[in-house]
Amino acid sequence: MVKKYDKNLEIIERDEKVFSNFSRLSYFPLTIKKAHGSIIEDMDGNEYIDMISAASTLNTGSCHPKIVQAIKDQADKCISYTAAYTYSEPLVKLSEMLCEITPGNFEKRVLFGVAASDSNDAAIKLARAYTGKKKMISFIGAYHGSTYGAISLSAISLNMRRKIGPLLPEIEHIRYPNCYRCQFKCNPEDCSLECLEDFKIAMQTYIPPDEIAAVIMEPIEGDGGLIVPPVKYMKAIYNICKDNNILFISEEVQQGLGRTGKWFGIEHFGIIPDLIVMGKSLGAGLPLSAVVGKKEIFEALGAPAHLFSMTGNQTCCAAAIASISVIKNEKLLDKSRDLGAYAKSRFEEMKSRYDIIGEVRGLGLSIGVDLVKDRESKAGDKNAAAKICCRAWEKGVLLIYLADGVLRIQPPLVITKEELDKAINIIEESIADYLNGNIPDEILKFAKGW
Ligand SMILES: Cc1ncc(COP(=O)(O)O)c(C=O)c1O
Repeated sequence: MVKKYDKNLEIIERDEKVFSNFSRLSYFPLTIKKAHGSIIEDMDGNEYIDMISAASTLNTGSCHPKIVQAIKDQADKCISYTAAYTYSEPLVKLSEMLCEITPGNFEKRVLFGVAASDSNDAAIKLARAYTGKKKMISFIGAYHGSTYGAISLSAISLNMRRKIGPLLPEIEHIRYPNCYRCQFKCNPEDCSLECLEDFKIAMQTYIPPDEIAAVIMEPIEGDGGLIVPPVKYMKAIYNICKDNNILFISEEVQQGLGRTGKWFGIEHFGIIPDLIVMGKSLGAGLPLSAVVGKKEIFEALGAPAHLFSMTGNQTCCAAAIASISVIKNEKLLDKSRDLGAYAKSRFEEMKSRYDIIGEVRGLGLSIGVDLVKDRESKAGDKNAAAKICCRAWEKGVLLIYLADGVLRIQPPLVITKEELDKAINIIEESIADYLNGNIPDEILKFAKGW
């Protein structure tokens, strides 16, 4: 049966007349009507298996009944009453839970934000206030959000930075360690962390370490292409921080809350960060972000250094409490680990048959399938990725690509093995269609991507 998209397209036509054209990276004309668990329905009744969890904001899936109930119960009592002047039990309970699940056996404090971007801004404020130093070190390829502070930390797209300057000063970017495309052509086995030399030289020549407040780093560089850093790099950069009174901030917005098979991605590296920034999945679909960190760091700022009228409101906190409980009760950390290993093995198997797959990498259900023009040059194949994502959409899988052509495999952690298998089969069919020249250019009409 030929699928219909009339109602989807009707909404898109209206959207184009009113919505800001720089606030979306479109891939295909998909207008969401309903979403439950890992299944999405569009305006014309077509169904899709969700491979991206609404940009990793729905680790517990769409409309989990326990979370919906918690939101309804809370909304009946009080949707939102500002935490800027009053206290609330859901906020306290959620803060207690976050102190418990974040690494580090020390007294902690929590602040809330509306979007991850503003919590990244909060992390900059805390780092500067606590250390009395100004400089922040961030990574090329990182996306940290759209507020001025978060854009200043990001280095992924010129359009994010063009025309809007000046950005926040005193932010330096270094290379994210990328073993697949190692600039020094090292093998992971005999690597001596040559990639860290740039930073060491910088600290000897033009970035005085005694002026660096913090290093902010994602435990997997998400939008940069789901790049997993080597454990020894993470330990080495963390030690540099400790030796120089530099804070280490783990930016867990995309990788946190079970995505990688642990509560937080940084736990894979045996590092206890000074601050953790989280967002996306925290509110299970409602806008909520947080910074959790050492009590003494939080004591460096005085009120009202960072507050918003509606942050940490009762309903967002109720959703987050329910979502964390679902992750615990449904053992979603184990599920992320197990299904992640399974998905990776299926893509690895595909890699042995399709040269277009250069690398399969990731932790838990945070997986990147790197498509390349050829395995020698390792040049990313963005066009192939776009066509494969569009074909997968036609066949009923919601999939996007990042960076230069990396398929983003981040389904809800509640996905069933059957749904995952079906989605991976469709992705494989789409890859085969591409390689057989069976995906026309017209399919890319809506594909702007990153
Ligand atoms: C790693 C990371 N940090 C921050 C953000 C920004 O999050 P938000 O859009 O909630 O501000 C994103 C969004 O994609 C992200 O992937």
